[in-house]
Amino acid sequence: MKTVKLNNGIEMPILGYGVYQVTPEECERCVLDALSVGYRSVDTAQAYFNEEGVGNAISKSGIPRNELFITTKVWISNAGYEKAKASIAESLRKLQSDYVDLLLIHQPFGDYYGTYRAMEEAYKAGKARAIGVSNFYPDRLVDLAECCEIKPAVNQVETHVFNQQIEPQRIMEEYGTRVMSWGPFAEGKNNFFTNELLKTIGEKYGKSVAQVALRYLIQRDVIVIPKSTHKERMIENMDVFDFSLSEEDMQAITTLDQKKSLFLSHTDPEIVKWMINMVKKEAVI
Ligand SMILES: NC(=O)c1ccc[n+]([C@@H]2O[C@H](COP(=O)([O-])OP(=O)(O)OC[C@H]3O[C@@H](n4cnc5c(N)ncnc54)[C@H](OP(=O)(O)O)[C@@H]3O)[C@@H](O)[C@H]2O)c1
Repeated sequence: MKTVKLNNGIEMPILGYGVYQVTPEECERCVLDALSVGYRSVDTAQAYFNEEGVGNAISKSGIPRNELFITTKVWISNAGYEKAKASIAESLRKLQSDYVDLLLIHQPFGDYYGTYRAMEEAYKAGKARAIGVSNFYPDRLVDLAECCEIKPAVNQVETHVFNQQIEPQRIMEEYGTRVMSWGPFAEGKNNFFTNELLKTIGEKYGKSVAQVALRYLIQRDVIVIPKSTHKERMIENMDVFDFSLSEEDMQAITTLDQKKSLFLSHTDPEIVKWMINMVKKEAVI
């Protein structure tokens, strides 16, 4: 598996497996399937309610822990130093591991500075091999990166052919922060899997729309974590290292960029209010 070097020198697989919207009941089986076909990186989060499934799969797989790369994220309801610290301990318990490879702030809301301090402490204590953020748009990323001690290694943001994050990626690079794509298929929105341009390009290489979309991001050094509950799709989504998109095809795909979210805008005050009020109602741990 091709890896990328993070800004603290550790190596991370450029392709992994995401478990958002994988039910707690299904998660263990899905992660075991993913590991059996060769995935070594798994992306979960406190808010997915399936860290235990990931932990069970890790322990049942028999794969040495140091051959795996596990990412989790601290949810908004655990924002702030004390709550974040307790939630990190709880995540490690659920994951049945002494450390995670990558620990992220899930959303840039609430007392995320306090959260980040707890994460820096976890990093120094060896409980996280790398730390970073998610859904930090350039303004918040720059603010945190300028003020914190340990620069975010990764920023996991919505990144796919319709929202390519080309300018934000340039800004993140100033801090050595890698773009990690969530929703590399835009969860199928906008007729993703039948897109004519991606289909035509794929036919040239004998590859599917999904494979072209992942390959496009990988060639831009974007880390990808496609999700599927189907083993045959897990295999398809990993089979992207035996071809290269030409410069011409890469350029053609840039024309699909709408430079905006297909889901929700993290800079819309109403969305911020909605997210914060939603988590006030239900605590995650
Ligand atoms: N940080 C954040 O805020 C955030 C937000 C969203 C996601 N994420 C992370 O990013 C990961 C990936 O994003 P995502 O799960 O939202 O969506 P995604 O990977 O863009 O799309 C997943 C969807 O595509 C389908 N699919 C997968 N492979 C396919 C293929 N080869 N052909 C046709 N359909 C295929 C899946 O269906 P089946 O499962 O039925 O196969 C599922 O409906 C998540 O699992 C999570 O780890 C993070």
